Formats: sequence, structure tokens, C-alpha cells
Amino acid sequence: MITKQNAEPDFSRRKNCISLLEYSEEELDHIITMAVRLKRQRGREDTPVLKNKTGVLIFEKPSLRTHISFETALFELGGHPIVLHSNMVQMGKRETVKDVAKNLERLVHLVIARTYLHETIVELAAHSSIPVINALSDKFHPCQALAFALTLHEHRGQEKTKKVVFIGDGNNVCHSLMVVCAKRGYHFTAACPHGYEPDTTITETCRSIALRNGCSIEVCNDPNACVADATVIYTDVWASMGQESEAEERKNSFAAFQVNESLLRRAPSDVLVSHCLPAHRGEEITSAVLDSANSIALDEAENRLHVQKAVIVHLFS
Ligand code: CP
Ligand code: NVA
Repeated sequence: MITKQNAEPDFSRRKNCISLLEYSEEELDHIITMAVRLKRQRGREDTPVLKNKTGVLIFEKPSLRTHISFETALFELGGHPIVLHSNMVQMGKRETVKDVAKNLERLVHLVIARTYLHETIVELAAHSSIPVINALSDKFHPCQALAFALTLHEHRGQEKTKKVVFIGDGNNVCHSLMVVCAKRGYHFTAACPHGYEPDTTITETCRSIALRNGCSIEVCNDPNACVADATVIYTDVWASMGQESEAEERKNSFAAFQVNESLLRRAPSDVLVSHCLPAHRGEEITSAVLDSANSIALDEAENRLHVQKAVIVHLFS
């Protein structure tokens, strides 16, 4: 008989992966544990949850890692991926987001979308009876943060206290890292120029989550002041996709926020460094740091595949 104690966790109502705010701490733990297993048994998959199923990937913005890792994930889970670029679908222009959702649910089994507006993902999910996964929006990049969590677990799983310092723009990647840190009990500090801090509503939500998990969420404007006890220093481009016209102005605002050797000298010598990639070498990070032994950016890029497979298995189990 299955007792409450040894029963599998019941996440049976989980349908989407939008921001990770909707996932419990236990659920995140379950996904990371599953990703570890899927990574170990890659090539010997025993979970073809997408057999005879099709998933559509819609990209309103460019992608290398997300496209490749999701297409590979669908293939390895026994499914068939269809990739559509923005000019083909034109959500909200050629037809409404709701109409796109209503048509897709009649034809495929999974929707993975990279959009400009976060609201587009939310609307797609609201009108879909099939799972929707956020492959990056202007507010969140949940799969990146999951890959980070797996990578940190692999490198520092044994350490009880961890502090993640994000340096740069309070953007989609910063928000998702903040969510994951708050839920996994990692201290998180965002060091951003004035005017580029993370969204205050997301920050306050994460602070209340962090409170119950024994960690803190800080926002400051001085990168040099917060890395002395960092486990990881993380950075991302200063101008995200869609902000290209602000790139020059941002170079001035972010000049003091470069992750370079001088900043690393203020951190523990074994500090880990990561970046979601693509990197603008010589801007937010120097090549010396990105290519150093401290860097786990490529481990994280690889782990996109394993965590995304785990998310899909989770959604279809
Ligand atoms: N990190 C990431 O999402 O990379 P792509 O934009 O290349 O998919
Ligand atoms: N913040 C970046 C992340 C790219 C993976 C962007 O949105 O362009």
C-alpha cells in the first residue's frame, strides 16, 4: 500500500512553465533531481513521454541555445518538433494570440514560445488546454534559471550556504535567477546601475518567498561591495533583445558593471562565474573571465537540455 510518506509527490495539476513563481520548492527540487537522472542516462532514455506527440517552438526573437536544446529535448523524449519563426506566425498581428492558442491545441501537444511581451506567453497559456513553456520573455527566462540551479547543484551541491550575485541589468534573466534563488534558499544580490534595478513587484514577491526559505534578496548599485562572499557571480548582456536602440546609452550607464579580473580579485578565489550567453565579450564580461577556470557558463548552456527534458517529463507525467 502506498502511504503518504513514500507516495510520489502529487503535482498532477501542473500544466505550464511560465515564470517558476507558480512552482513550489518541492516541485523545483523534483525537476532538478529528475534532470540529474536524465543527464546521467542520456542516450538510454526510459521516458519517451512525447512518443507520437508533436511540440511547436515559436520564436519571436533569435536563439541558438534555446532552439537547439528544446529541439533536441523533444527528439530525445520521442517527440517531433516543429519550429516556427516570428514572420510565420505573427502572433497578435496576423491573428490574435487566443486564435493561435486555440488552433495549436487542436494540432500539437506542447507549445514552447519565446516572445517579446511576457503577456503573450501568459495569454497563450490562458487559452491553451495543452502545456505552454516560456522560452524567454521580456520578464522571465525560467529554463535558464533551472539550468543555473542544476549547474550550481553540480558544482557546489554540498555547500549549505550559497550567495549568487547578479551584476548588470535587472532583466529577464535576473528576475528568473532571483525566483530560483528565493525558492532554493540561496542568498541573492542584484548589483545594477540606478534606473536598471529589477522589477520591484517581482523583487518583493521573491523577498517574501526567501523569508520562508532562510535566505535574503538584496538590490544594490555597487558591484564591488557585494562580491566578497559570493559563491557565484552572474552577468548578462547590458541591452537585451528588443533593446538594441538603447545599446550605446547603456554602454555608458553600465561601464562600471563589467565582470572582469579586477572585480574577481574582490571575490573568493574559487568564485564561480556564469553568463546565460550569448556574451558581448569586452562589455559585460571580459574574455579572460568568461574563459577562465572559474567559468561554468558552458556547463550551464549544456544543462539547458537536461532541465528542459525534466520540465517536459514533469508536465507530461
Ligand atoms: N541563453 C539563451 O537563451 O540563449 P539563446 O538566446 O541563444 O537561446
Ligand atoms: N537578457 C537577454 C537574455 C538572452 C538569453 C535577452 O533577453 O536578450
